[in-house]
Amino acid sequence: MSARTVATAPAWRDGLEHEYAALIERLEPLVPCLELPLHLPWIDAINALKRERGAVIMAHSYQSPEIFHGVADITGDSLALAQAAADCAASLIVLCGVHFMAESAKILAPRKTVLIPDPQAGCSLASSITAADVRALRAQYPGVPVVSYVNTSAAVKAESDACCTSANAVQVVEAMGSAQVIFLPDRYLGSHVATQTQVRLILWHGQCEVHEKFTAQEARHARERFGAKLVAHPECPPEVLAEADFVGSTSAMGRWLEREQPERVALITECSMADNLRMRFPATQFIKPCNLCPHMQRITLPAIHAALRGTQHAVEVPADVAARARHALERMLAVGRHEAA
Ligand code: 13P
Ligand code: SF4
Repeated sequence: MSARTVATAPAWRDGLEHEYAALIERLEPLVPCLELPLHLPWIDAINALKRERGAVIMAHSYQSPEIFHGVADITGDSLALAQAAADCAASLIVLCGVHFMAESAKILAPRKTVLIPDPQAGCSLASSITAADVRALRAQYPGVPVVSYVNTSAAVKAESDACCTSANAVQVVEAMGSAQVIFLPDRYLGSHVATQTQVRLILWHGQCEVHEKFTAQEARHARERFGAKLVAHPECPPEVLAEADFVGSTSAMGRWLEREQPERVALITECSMADNLRMRFPATQFIKPCNLCPHMQRITLPAIHAALRGTQHAVEVPADVAARARHALERMLAVGRHEAA
């Protein structure tokens, strides 16, 4: 069955509402109330299959609340998910996120089976650059190290010296020990990193189709109309970041909220993020944008169920590409470990 085929929902069984009372209470403010009876049988069936198969479900911060709160064992930003894939003991991982995230998990955990519920879940940044483009950049700038954002294909990672995420980009760029670094593919993340380091960055022209839509005027409106603090993802255009009180990865946003406890906050990022953070910060009012990532939205409860039931959509990476890409990813993880040490 294709992940886009409409699947028949598992039957409602007696006691479901009682068993999931705590989850229902958490989800009620986040999903339209009429949707809950549709989600619960899927959540229950997925959790049963998960136990039976000894699987671990990982979900990115942009996954919808019924996935993030209903079935995920591990949640976080792309760095946290990559680290979890490398460290987790389960031999079956279902990665609820976009394709490059599942590919990174497979590269870091080559002996594990990594399933992506919908293999069409792409990313405009990952599709903005090819391995041949990276080789051409290297020819143009001989000897200059290449740092690739994890939002890239395995083939691009394989051509790179190190990977980074928005959470560790500055540290990784500086760990290259070079006055110049080729930084790809996100030109907005790259120009933000360039404001935080002396290293000269040579940028590519990729953009996130979700974050590029935000404008400085929208950001100012949120502050002036609602008195909200502004928290932005570094994939936003520079004029938006210039308005922000804080710029950081999806996990760093949560840590900032913990520290600052603002009365009102506007999250200038994919809109599921606000749903997933709201529960942790009941005293904060969230001004939620409506920019959804169409790729993240391809992951649904029926698609997760189908992937688990049929062990379908296992991610595969050719061994030679995987070995070189792993080197770039491990170099990134080593930078994180040194920072934490
Ligand atoms: P994080 O690295 O913050 O999880 O972001 C990944 C992403 O795709 C943002 O659009
Ligand atoms: Fe890619 Fe943007 Fe979607 Fe993140 S939000 S997965 S960068 S398209």
